[in-house]
Amino acid sequence: MNTKELIQAESTYIVQTYSRPEIVLSHGQGAYLYDLEGKKYLDFTSGIAVTALGHSDPEWAAAVASQASKLVHVSNLYHTAPQIELAKKLVESCFADKLFFCNSGSEANETALKFARKWAKSLEPDQDPGNKTKIVAFSGAFHGRTMGALSATYKSKYREPFSPLVPGVIFADYNDLASAKAAITTDCCAVIVEPVQGEGGVNPATNEFLQGLRSLCDANQALLIFDEVQCGLGRTGALWAHQAYGVTPDIMTIAKPLAGGLPIGAALVTAAVANVMHPGDHGNTFAGGPLVCTAANAVFDRVNQPGFLSQVMENGAYLRARLAALESDSIVAIRGSGLLVGVELNMPVKPIIDAAREQGLLLINAGENVLRLAPPLIISRDEIDLAVAVIGSILEVEETAA
Ligand SMILES: Cc1ncc(COP(=O)(O)O)c(C=O)c1O
Repeated sequence: MNTKELIQAESTYIVQTYSRPEIVLSHGQGAYLYDLEGKKYLDFTSGIAVTALGHSDPEWAAAVASQASKLVHVSNLYHTAPQIELAKKLVESCFADKLFFCNSGSEANETALKFARKWAKSLEPDQDPGNKTKIVAFSGAFHGRTMGALSATYKSKYREPFSPLVPGVIFADYNDLASAKAAITTDCCAVIVEPVQGEGGVNPATNEFLQGLRSLCDANQALLIFDEVQCGLGRTGALWAHQAYGVTPDIMTIAKPLAGGLPIGAALVTAAVANVMHPGDHGNTFAGGPLVCTAANAVFDRVNQPGFLSQVMENGAYLRARLAALESDSIVAIRGSGLLVGVELNMPVKPIIDAAREQGLLLINAGENVLRLAPPLIISRDEIDLAVAVIGSILEVEETAA
């Protein structure tokens, strides 16, 4: 089938929940993607902050190919070495004592919320565990599309068509400690927050906010959950985004970049949380299989190197400086951390994204007015220059036309 026939078939056979441009991607190499017509695109989306090593990384591909011809799936009925090796590396890289594997960011957050409810029920009876079920989330939050994760996702457009959702979730204002203080009370089992919000507009939390949440959780005996599904694993230039804040959570959820494009997720937890979970309490058929964990071991080993992380930090600062140097009247703010950068414009970004694609640059939005730049973490300075030049030329055209 050619491009036109494929797109026609897509609308016939696939539930129409996505609005996609009229291109069909066929292969990728490094920071570039190619469509069926042979057109080349510089990929500043990384499949929504997933392909950290870029496309078709040779070491990653070799590891996956070799494992694929050895063992792919046995379910969690049995032990496999890649799963255990990956768990050891992840746990030893942060505050956590143990982890639980799953297949996506939403599932990781489902896991975190389920664990938090069970942990609260295990508290001493004089702490009134039966009533400690409230979960606090924040304005702008995106935690996923499954019922539990969706209940903690802020946009009513995503939630309302599917109500009633999981009860007990309330929202406070992001980066507003007074609002958090009013919401976090002793009937609260968990507070879930992104250290750097992605979908919500690329908003980094302030130090004061995350530190304040830690204190409020401690004072009210609630678990602090950091959702690092998008901002974790090197994206911000720290291995884990929260490590730059000096605040540790009780649970951290991760997913997107971990297996370099294969589906994986995990909830990393303290011993206090892990100890309330027993055989049969939670489970998953595909999670932590040998193929996906081999892929994740390859990604983790590359990203978790001081040289790799410092390059993300430096290239992120370079990208933000180059964007600022555009001195465009259309740019309201440039935000972000490492290679997760938000460019807020004084207009909707959809026409900019469409024009950039025409010129061979793939971008995504984070809300109506924010361009989200999330290139592969291996992006070069020349590729950053190229992307900024395309964005600059489009904004100039917009400004001339205005
Ligand atoms: C911060 C955050 N949490 C959770 C999710 C949900 O992840 P998934 O789409 O893998 O279920 C996303 C997805 O964009 C995310 O950005």
